[in-house]
Amino acid sequence: MNPKIKVENLTKIFGRNPKSVLAKLKSGMPKDKILQETGHTVGVCNVSFEVKEGEVFVIMGLSGSGKSTLIRCLNLLNRPTEGKIYIDNEDIVEYDKKQLKEFRQKKVAMVFQHFGLFTHRTVLDNVVYGLEIRGVPGDERYKIARKTLEIVGLKGWESHYPKQLSGGMQQRVGLARALANDPDILLMDEPFSALDPLIRREMQQELLDLQSKLKKTIIFITHDINEAFKLGDRVAIMKDGIIEQIGTPEEILANPKNEYIKNFVRDIDRSKVMQAKNVMFRPSALVSLKDGLKIAIQEMEQSGISSIFVVDNDRRLQGLVTIDDAIKALKENKRLADILQQTFYTTKPETYVHELIPIATKSKYPIAVVDDDDRLLGIIVRVSVLSSLV
Ligand SMILES: Nc1ncnc2c1ncn2[C@@H]1O[C@H](COP(=O)(O)OP(=O)(O)O)[C@@H](O)[C@H]1O
Ligand SMILES: [Mg+2]
Repeated sequence: MNPKIKVENLTKIFGRNPKSVLAKLKSGMPKDKILQETGHTVGVCNVSFEVKEGEVFVIMGLSGSGKSTLIRCLNLLNRPTEGKIYIDNEDIVEYDKKQLKEFRQKKVAMVFQHFGLFTHRTVLDNVVYGLEIRGVPGDERYKIARKTLEIVGLKGWESHYPKQLSGGMQQRVGLARALANDPDILLMDEPFSALDPLIRREMQQELLDLQSKLKKTIIFITHDINEAFKLGDRVAIMKDGIIEQIGTPEEILANPKNEYIKNFVRDIDRSKVMQAKNVMFRPSALVSLKDGLKIAIQEMEQSGISSIFVVDNDRRLQGLVTIDDAIKALKENKRLADILQQTFYTTKPETYVHELIPIATKSKYPIAVVDDDDRLLGIIVRVSVLSSLV
C-alpha cells in the first residue's frame, strides 16, 4: 500500500534568501553558525518520513526543534525551501492555486494549540465556518455541524460563545471544526498543550476513542514524551530541525538511538507504553481438544509446565488443564473435555502492561492473550510482565 503522506528531504529555511543557504547547510554547517553568519534560521533540515493511512504519527521535540515549521509545510502554510511532499502520491508542492485551495478545503484540516476560534461566532457557527467556505448549502451545513459537535461531546453548547467554555471544551470546538469537512488528514499542533493535566488526559483518551471510529490519518505534535508515546502509532523525535529517530514507542524504548533519545525516554513509565502483545510469547506447548488427555500430559511433561491451554482447530481458546487433573482424569477414564478449566485470565493484545500487573501477580496460570474471535495469540507469565518494566 502506498503511504498516505511521504516527505522527502524536506528543508525549510527562514530568511531573506533561503535557497542561498542550502549549500552551507548541506556541507554540514550547524544551525547556530548559519544564523550567525547569514541571518537565516533553519526550521527543518533534510527531513524524510512516511505516514500510513489511518496512522497516528506523532512529532515530538522540545520547543524550537522545528515541529510547527514541519507540520505547516504539510498544508503549505510554509513553502518548503527544498524537498518533496507527496500526499496520495501527488506532490503538493507543485499544486497550482486551485488545486491547493481544494486540497486545503477537503483533504486536510488543522487544530491549533490556542484553539484559533472566532470569538464573535457561536460554537455552532465556528464549526459551520469551513463548510460555509466550501459552499455547502445552509441546511446541510448546520446539520453536519450539529452532528460533528455531538461527536466531540458538545451537544447542547451550540449557541454558546467560545469564551463561555473551558479550555478543554474550546479545543473540542476546534476539533469539531476540523472534523466537519471530513478531511482525510488531521494536522494537530500541540492541541492539548494549553490544557490542565486532568483535562489533557481526558482529551487524549477521547482522541484515541474518536480515532478508533474515524480512522483518520493524524499528524500530532507534542513536546511531551508521555503524550507522544500514549497517542502515537509511531513517533518521530526532532532536535534542531532534524529527525533524530522514528519508530513505534516500543521500538524507541527498546532501542534509543543515542544519548539524546535515551534522556527523553528515561522517565517514561514503560508499563503505560508496553502492551500485552509486546510482552506475550508463543506458548511452548498447546493441545487441541481432539488430541486428548495423553497428548496433553505428554506435552506438559516435555515442556516442563504444569498447565496447558486447549484450543480448537481454529486455535480458539477452549480452556486450560493442569497436569494433576489430567493424570487423575486418565486414571478415571475421563476425556480432556471433561476437565477443562476456565479459571484463568484472558486479555486483548492492546491491553497495557500496567493493567496486567495486578492480574499477573494474583494469577496461578499464564494470562491468555486472545483476539476478538477468541483465538489464542500468545501467553503472558508474571516474569515476562515484570521483566518488560526494566
Ligand atoms: N516565520 C518564521 N520566521 C523565522 N524563524 C522562524 C519562523 N517560524 C519558526 N522559526 C524558527 O524556526 C525554528 C523552529 O521553530 P518551530 O517550528 O516553531 O519550533 P517548535 O514548533 O518545535 O517549537 C525556531 O528556531 C524558530 O525561531
Ligand atoms: Mg510549535
